[in-house]
Amino acid sequence: MESRLSGSLVALFISLLWLGQGGWSLDNGLARTPIMGWLHWERFLCNVNCQEDPHNCISEQLYMQMADVMAAEGWKDVGYNYVCIDDCWLAHTRDADHRLQPDPKRFPSGIKWLADYVHSKGLKLGIYQDVGTHTCAGYPGSYGYYELDAQTFADWGVDLLKFDGCNFINLDLLIEGYMNMSLALNQTGRDIAYSCEWPFYLWPFTKPNYTEIRKYCNHWRNHGDIDDSWGSVKNIIDWTALHQGLIAPIAGPGGWNDPDMLVIGNFGLSKDQQVTQMALWAIMAAPLLMSNDLRNIDPDAKALLQNRYIIAINQDPLGIQGRRVSQLFNFELWSRPLTGGGFAYAVLNRAEIGGPQKFSIIIFGLDDGKACQEECLVTQILPAFQFRGIHVLTSLLDFWVNPTGTVLFTVFPHSTDSSLKVGTLKGNKEQRSRL
Ligand code: GLA
Repeated sequence: MESRLSGSLVALFISLLWLGQGGWSLDNGLARTPIMGWLHWERFLCNVNCQEDPHNCISEQLYMQMADVMAAEGWKDVGYNYVCIDDCWLAHTRDADHRLQPDPKRFPSGIKWLADYVHSKGLKLGIYQDVGTHTCAGYPGSYGYYELDAQTFADWGVDLLKFDGCNFINLDLLIEGYMNMSLALNQTGRDIAYSCEWPFYLWPFTKPNYTEIRKYCNHWRNHGDIDDSWGSVKNIIDWTALHQGLIAPIAGPGGWNDPDMLVIGNFGLSKDQQVTQMALWAIMAAPLLMSNDLRNIDPDAKALLQNRYIIAINQDPLGIQGRRVSQLFNFELWSRPLTGGGFAYAVLNRAEIGGPQKFSIIIFGLDDGKACQEECLVTQILPAFQFRGIHVLTSLLDFWVNPTGTVLFTVFPHSTDSSLKVGTLKGNKEQRSRL
């Protein structure tokens, strides 16, 4: 009895040591920087009408075509490497062995075949399921089948699971379900990134325990679905700023807050609003999951989404989520610390009337001038690339910002050897000429 007790004390001590190391995150080695890729939901929803709309319905063809374009047109080269299926891929029943099966008409070759195809393009495949009895669109959920479904996904060669929270039985089972699916995925031995909506489904009832969520998920949605509108993007930015004290410190390599898909390249956002979404998602260290039609996308939207400077900010290896640091009249200033002692800043003009307005700031007003103790280099990245010169603490910077638009810039100590500072990222010439 005594030796059993001392055995468990040793185990407890070891786990406390492990937890005490700080920033404990899902130990699957994935998402060391925010995940990048494409996800069908916002643009293609639950379009299962392949008779009338074969080009846009949820079918294996859609993901094959997206994978083709991602590999051929530079998306993969800048880091977008997950092609993700959302809801409505399933058949309405499980097979005789209770395994999930895709809709046979729309996915005649099966998911394993599709995963092989996506892998042959050097990309990864994401899939969707739900912690409850049914998915949000009413297809069979994973409740009661977590281990079997995790193993099925692993057998098929799936690389990411988006796990939704519709139709859960009760709050305890919702939380337990998210944890159990995480453990089940790990037990398969396959690298499967785990995207959760756990906090979003908890918020109406209770404050989520983010430390716990981070132990099980690679990223997690906090609020309702994005749609293709400025109102929706604004709400997400506001929600994030309001809760930043709680959620920003939790983000870091291995686990990220997910403000939902990029809707750049669709119908609802003006050019300035698309710039704002890209800039803010970079500052917020957000997963960059585009939901648009890459087969037919406006060249400006493509250049914005493929801009290596913005992606480098988003993917900064320190992995610190930025925050809104001040609000002045209609302006918001957001700041994110970067590797090499630099910072990225976003100046967002919330006015929805009038023309461009001037935002002026003295360098020592930017994070107490930490990046500029001697000299610093200021580089504007959005809306157009521009070296803004070498500065000192007392330099005054002026930025003209369009209504609902954002200026994104970086400040680096002049001595730092950072590719973001000196603008030596590959492809920058082409990028600069496009912007
Ligand atoms: C929920 C999720 C969305 C999407 C749909 C699919 O609303 O939040 O992101 O996955 O379900 O039905």
